Amino acid sequence: MTTRHHLEKALHELGLSVAVMTPISGHSISVYPLRLGEVKGERIQGQLDELAGRLGIRAIRGAFIEGSSRYGLEVPNTERYTLNASEVPKAVKQFNLALHIGIDIYGTWKTVDLAKAPHMLLGGGTGSGKSTAVHGFICNLIKHKNANQLRFVMIDPKRVELNYYRNLEHLLCPPITDPQTAVAMLNSLADHMDKRYSLLEQETTRDIESYNKRSKQKLPYIVVIIDELADLMLASKGNCEKALVRLAQKARAVGIHLILATQQPKSEIVTSLIKVNIPVRLAFAVGNHHESRAILDSNGAEQLLGQGDCLFYNRQGNLIRLQNPFMSEQDIRKHIDNRAYGSFTDYFMQQHGDDFKLETQATAVDKDLHLFEEAKQLAISQGKLTTASLVNADLCSRAKAQRIMHQLRTAGVIGEHSASLGHSPLLLQVEQDNS
Ligand SMILES: Nc1ncnc2c1ncn2[C@@H]1O[C@H](COP(=O)(O)OP(=O)(O)OP(=O)(O)O)[C@@H](O)[C@H]1O
Ligand SMILES: [Mg+2]
Repeated sequence: MTTRHHLEKALHELGLSVAVMTPISGHSISVYPLRLGEVKGERIQGQLDELAGRLGIRAIRGAFIEGSSRYGLEVPNTERYTLNASEVPKAVKQFNLALHIGIDIYGTWKTVDLAKAPHMLLGGGTGSGKSTAVHGFICNLIKHKNANQLRFVMIDPKRVELNYYRNLEHLLCPPITDPQTAVAMLNSLADHMDKRYSLLEQETTRDIESYNKRSKQKLPYIVVIIDELADLMLASKGNCEKALVRLAQKARAVGIHLILATQQPKSEIVTSLIKVNIPVRLAFAVGNHHESRAILDSNGAEQLLGQGDCLFYNRQGNLIRLQNPFMSEQDIRKHIDNRAYGSFTDYFMQQHGDDFKLETQATAVDKDLHLFEEAKQLAISQGKLTTASLVNADLCSRAKAQRIMHQLRTAGVIGEHSASLGHSPLLLQVEQDNS
């Protein structure tokens, strides 16, 4: 008897009289479409564990088949076929930052343009295939974009995953392994993002694409990769979340994009603030439905099989089961070695390199204190202070100036509603301090 007949028989024994149709077979799973008749999909959904148990199958997932109104059962294949890196599609012209997520059961590739996504979250248990997917993304991006078009910031608290790329010319700095430095870098990136907005304003353009068409000085896309997010969030939860959310909310137009991977999909790590700003998500096999919900807002990832079997949640809110391609160490090395290194004039770093000088949290705090003092002196000498006057005095970027203004208000150096010191009793405090 075939699996199809076993399924039909077991469904009937469970009181679900549905017809099982010819399966469509993918690399890891086959989908058996059902002719439901009077039976509701939800009734079958409630019996899937029982059904899998009766057939001795690890897990069966039920879902409406993409592009059709038919409900189907996704059953693991007894033999799986590895999808190799060599099968990844060649250039996808209309995409700026193509990420090949995987193929569906029909053998159709699903590709996302990270430039539009604009950020991606990957979650899954240990060994489920996250880092392999991340390698695939990186290798494909460097294949099509040179270092003047694309730069990476790689954050690798585990110290092993992203080490391959340490000499890649696309890196803005060597892979960062220390969580404090990583958070400082995220903050620098957020400041650089604000600077990019000012550049766009000057050219009267609204996004990086049109800016690069008009301006002589091109800006590269910057892709920030974090593998693993949990280590960062646990080391400095508030600061890391704040920096990520700041970037996730605003960075798209200026060409800065995030790819975040975590082995611990739970609400302390993938907070609702992070999630709401990252609409495109990829779930690999997880241990339970709570973890699945933490990534996808729905069940399903607990039924995945591992080894790159994944559920892709796209901007339209659809869940699609895909097989991610495998990347061996040789595949990765081949991509890196194939890059033509050599005379590469780093215009971007010549102009903006100071924005990415790696600072530890401690030196960042020192710098902020220094800036605070300078701003305070300026306020006293001028009798008033505005964000613009801090920027005009070349003390800092506009975003930083706003932060310093806030700190000066909180410290009572300037009044709550007015930047003027003239009538504020707090001015006396400042003057006394300096007398
Ligand atoms: N797409 C794939 N196809 C086939 N095998 C895969 C695929 N992805 C991963 N694997 C297998 O699973 C192993 C673990 O994958 P990977 O290191 O990507 O997991 P991970 O999710 O990053 O785990 P961790 O959370 O521990 O870092 C790989 O070494 C490989 O053997
Ligand atoms: Mg990993």
